[in-house]
Amino acid sequence: MNEHSTASGTDTAPGGAGTGREMWGSRFGFIAAAVGSAVGLGNMWRFPYAAAEHGGAAFVLLYVIITFLVGVPIMIAEFGLGRSTRLSPIGALRRSGGPAWAPAGYLFVGAGFLILAYYSVIAGWVSRYALEAVLTPWPADAEAYFNEVSGNTSAVFYHLGFMALTLLIVAGGVKAGIERVSSFAMPLLALILVGIAVWATTLLGADEGYRYYLTPDFNELLSLDTLAAAASQAFFSLSLGMGAMLTFASYLQRDTSLPREATIVALSDFGIAFIAGLVVFPVIFAMGLQSAVSESTVGALFIAIPGAFVEMGAVGRVVGILFFVALFIGAITSAISLLEVVVSSVVDEWKMNRRKASIIGGIIIALIGILPARDLSVLNAMDRVAAEVFLPLGGLVLALLVGWGPAGRSLDAFAEGASPRTRSLLIGWRWTLRLAVPPLLIIVLSRTIPAGIDAIRAIGG
Ligand code: PHE
Repeated sequence: MNEHSTASGTDTAPGGAGTGREMWGSRFGFIAAAVGSAVGLGNMWRFPYAAAEHGGAAFVLLYVIITFLVGVPIMIAEFGLGRSTRLSPIGALRRSGGPAWAPAGYLFVGAGFLILAYYSVIAGWVSRYALEAVLTPWPADAEAYFNEVSGNTSAVFYHLGFMALTLLIVAGGVKAGIERVSSFAMPLLALILVGIAVWATTLLGADEGYRYYLTPDFNELLSLDTLAAAASQAFFSLSLGMGAMLTFASYLQRDTSLPREATIVALSDFGIAFIAGLVVFPVIFAMGLQSAVSESTVGALFIAIPGAFVEMGAVGRVVGILFFVALFIGAITSAISLLEVVVSSVVDEWKMNRRKASIIGGIIIALIGILPARDLSVLNAMDRVAAEVFLPLGGLVLALLVGWGPAGRSLDAFAEGASPRTRSLLIGWRWTLRLAVPPLLIIVLSRTIPAGIDAIRAIGG
């Protein structure tokens, strides 16, 4: 996200193709919204633990490779499909591929439903941590506190509150709602997180945390499970495989370079995830709470981190507030992109107005979310299935549609607005989508589908 970005002249939108579709107010606004979608709980909650669990720096390396080899190409595909059709996923796949591809659009919308339903539950916990830290210090018994926050009544209540806020922003529209919120919230998030990471270097024992996070275990690189973990993490973190980026690009002018924007979004997303690790581990290790890390990912973020902040006293309280506010910002800007996929699909397919679609879509998702709010095993199963199966599956569909199917026959839709040099790179890009991405995603799915089935079986157990 750089400041000169607004210079590329996409100021007030004259309605581009004359479709009457709402447009982003500026290039910066689009990038802020796309980075806002990408950066979220996935970066600050899932990434550090996935890295620690799967070989530290070795995982980080693999993750970077996948982000740029698979993530950026898929993102360019989504951007191009959205911008050229000016439609949300169902219509975009139908228009660019033919009617046979439309059902995949429903898969995308379904993934949006499922992910937002449980994402909002976790975001609800985050909201309570942030809110209460401002009002009173967190209780010393971090575990008991987490049990209370994630207990039925509280979790349902904060989940509904978070959904209400998400709904309000999306109902406000692309420019007045989503763009306005993301444009100030994302720079703020980056500032807070970098600030905390710098502060964390001063902690006694921080180096042990860095070592834990970044010591490479290269044996992990050879494991297919690590590959599957890195790839599904990349899809989740970059908001790929369910049309969020596609939908955002459907409000984009034609004069921006899609490969450049995709690279900016991916770099920002990785940067924030990496810095989150530089916060989380020093804090936990400085307070000697490392045993909590290996327990569960949820436990680590919601028990070890708040526990460490409580032990640090007044400074911990301030930093704790900032950290959870940053998490909240990440969560809300991601949640609006999830709801936007659903809303824009209803608007495009059934010609409903935005406000009505937001209210109906938001309420249905809020109701579904009551289930994971009341039962963590449901939440876990939804995360496994939606994030680790639906998203890579969606990625496979996109790679086939653009790589081999009708949508990629001409590169114009993807090259428009890019420099001549970038255009020639797009030929290599299409070969990547054809040959590299599908086999990789099939390997990933061969691992994540059985894991998803196991998680469904474990519900209630
Ligand atoms: N990328 C978001 C995060 O990391 C989650 C998300 C997934 C948002 C898919 C939109 C679509 O938190």
